[in-house]
Amino acid sequence: SQAASSLRVATQPSSDSDDEYADVDWDKLGFGLTPTDYMYVMRCSKDQTFNAGQLTRYGNIELSPSAAQILIQAIYEGTKANRTEDGRILLFRPEQNAARMKYGAERMCMPSPSIEQFVDAVKETVFANKRWIPPPGKGSLYVRPLLLGSGPILGLAPAPEYTFLIYASPVRNYFKEGTAPLNLYINEEYVRASPGGAGGVKTITNYAPVLKAIASAKNRGFSDVLYLDAVNKKYLEEVSSCNIFIVKGNNISTPATNGTILKGVTRKSIIEIARDQGYQVEERAIEVDELGEADEVFCSGTAVGVAPVGSITYRNKRMEFKTEGRLVSKELYSTLAGLQTGRIEDKNGWTVEI
Ligand code: COI
Repeated sequence: SQAASSLRVATQPSSDSDDEYADVDWDKLGFGLTPTDYMYVMRCSKDQTFNAGQLTRYGNIELSPSAAQILIQAIYEGTKANRTEDGRILLFRPEQNAARMKYGAERMCMPSPSIEQFVDAVKETVFANKRWIPPPGKGSLYVRPLLLGSGPILGLAPAPEYTFLIYASPVRNYFKEGTAPLNLYINEEYVRASPGGAGGVKTITNYAPVLKAIASAKNRGFSDVLYLDAVNKKYLEEVSSCNIFIVKGNNISTPATNGTILKGVTRKSIIEIARDQGYQVEERAIEVDELGEADEVFCSGTAVGVAPVGSITYRNKRMEFKTEGRLVSKELYSTLAGLQTGRIEDKNGWTVEI
């Protein structure tokens, strides 16, 4: 195909090595950054349209001290590439990330690459860094697209220029707990996003403010923070880096995305997989008090995957959830991971082979 041939042209001149795998201790992968060979850079022209981007060596980028991303505009995405047992490379629903970036860009007054430009750029980046994709069962290549206001600006207005950039890193488990159940903490002192704000958008401004809440939870021995809604402090929102689900019998619920909650691609996929497997799935407002009756709780996210929650502490009360035996979260994750790694046949056209 055209895409495949342009990939070869782009990566041939400076390809580092013909080895199938980079020199990585695959058994030691966590979620730290392992720099890979190439990144993808595409700048928009003065008329705010993105033209051809290209792969360059991974490295520092030059930035005006007054670049808008520093003060105002920056959004990002996360998606993963996996190797299959039979040696193929699969992306998972990258067009969903592309669409989310477009949606976020619109909210943040930024021009964005088209869906096709985004997906092609992800493919090129993964292809060029393919020796960094972990062996089957050892993790994934995490791909991080960024859209940055890179033009200089002093006042408060959209940047005059933008840069779309993608880099990648091999990763495995996001939490230091590995696959062990998480212990979450509800800290009412902090909120993640409020109505009318940009909580539903993957802007960097949703992530810096939660660092303090995470640090305080970790200091107390918790894995992460579960936020409540900003207005009533009564409804579940999301965890710092992932969405939340509760399970009761055959019913699975997750907070409805009403503008303050990120529309996770993994969240959406889990909802679709669960419905397909016969669960009743509701996207609705979930009161924090409902946690007391939940059988199971789990988190979902691209980085996180699906992580079981063992306990949630709220107002000095620790609520515990099922983490052993037959688990709905395990079942759903097994299907999701099976699709992502080619173990399960993809009947929905979710995977993109490169
Ligand atoms: C992801 O899940 O891909 C994210 O972007 C979350 C991030 C905080 C690691």
